[in-house]
Amino acid sequence: MISSNLNPKSQVLSPRRILVTGGAGFIGSNFILYMMEKYPDYEIVNLDTLTYAGNLENLKSVESNPNYSFVHGDICNTDDVKKAMTDCNWVVHFAAESHVDRSITGPAIFVKTNVIGTQVLLDVARELGIERFHHVSTDEVFGTLSLENKSELFTENTPYSPRSPYSASKAGSDHLVRAYIETYGLKATISNCTNNYGPYQFPEKVFPLFITNAMQDKPLPIYGSGKAVRDYLYVVDHCSAIDLILHKGKIGGTYCISGDSEKNGLEVADAILKALGKPEALKTFVEDRKGHDMRYAMDHTKITRELGWQPSVTFDEGIKKTVDWYLQNRSWWERIISKEYLDTNRAKSNKQKV
Ligand SMILES: NC(=O)c1ccc[n+]([C@@H]2O[C@H](COP(=O)([O-])OP(=O)(O)OC[C@H]3O[C@@H](n4cnc5c(N)ncnc54)[C@H](O)[C@@H]3O)[C@@H](O)[C@H]2O)c1
Repeated sequence: MISSNLNPKSQVLSPRRILVTGGAGFIGSNFILYMMEKYPDYEIVNLDTLTYAGNLENLKSVESNPNYSFVHGDICNTDDVKKAMTDCNWVVHFAAESHVDRSITGPAIFVKTNVIGTQVLLDVARELGIERFHHVSTDEVFGTLSLENKSELFTENTPYSPRSPYSASKAGSDHLVRAYIETYGLKATISNCTNNYGPYQFPEKVFPLFITNAMQDKPLPIYGSGKAVRDYLYVVDHCSAIDLILHKGKIGGTYCISGDSEKNGLEVADAILKALGKPEALKTFVEDRKGHDMRYAMDHTKITRELGWQPSVTFDEGIKKTVDWYLQNRSWWERIISKEYLDTNRAKSNKQKV
């Protein structure tokens, strides 16, 4: 079990004890499962406030593992963060409000969680002498690329130009992490990644929404013309990239992580319908997202060159793995799209409003 008699300021803990924020969410839970399998000696503390997007069911297979513990708490609350971070030597920060559409209808909670929450974590990390703080961010901070010039890609040197309340709040958090590196010498790293897909993703994001709708013969809502392009990264490839950055990444460094899989909305819908053997007639065009960015794509040369990482799962393989997972885990997604679950979470988010 996790010991509490270690002084994090004075010694390097072995085995390493890692605080994962937002570990009940999509990427966070995949990361915890990945790390606990790969490093059975590491201790993992999961700090999560369990918003509508947090689901402890994702972690059922590790909940009785003595090296895993859960702290129900808010990253914006210093006491909660201290409770979870004490005795940890590394932090991997996933917790965030993550859905662009929700940020358009209610930006305040995005600023609170993504900006203030990150600042609280950074302050406690400084105070406790954290040896590695990894901040997980998005390609959306860089703005949008044109559809015409396919050779244009975001890199670690692209200037920030966020265009939605979500990406602006993530950009704010990235800037804070950099400021703490420069001002206080915090031992931090940052990664900006493209759109993840895979198991345990809440069915409001495009992949699980399309898959679960198609499985129920419901329409697949495609924004505008369906031409907006995203790069898709299989979530386990994202986890392996963070693993490498934690162990070998340069302190103060930023790394762009992408899946080498640029697809537009129509292509994603077609691939999912084909994998499930469902008719094209389920594709339905809906009003475009406000300020919809037309293309995100990133160059992962730096992490490939410095750390030897590259995506291992192709889009076709990833589609198959993901569709199979949703087919095999119907009870997981049926529960979280049920009226009862959605009503409970609506009540939760009303309480959470800032
Ligand atoms: N999903 C993607 O495609 C993608 C792409 C690029 C970057 N990211 C970034 O990766 C991270 C994880 O994304 P995700 O898709 O897993 O998100 P998610 O919405 O699935 O999970 C977020 C988790 O954070 C928790 N959380 C929210 N507010 C909290 C708070 N105040 N205190 C503690 N916990 C809180 C939620 O309960 C949930 O478990 C985010 O920082 C996101 O910006 C995601």
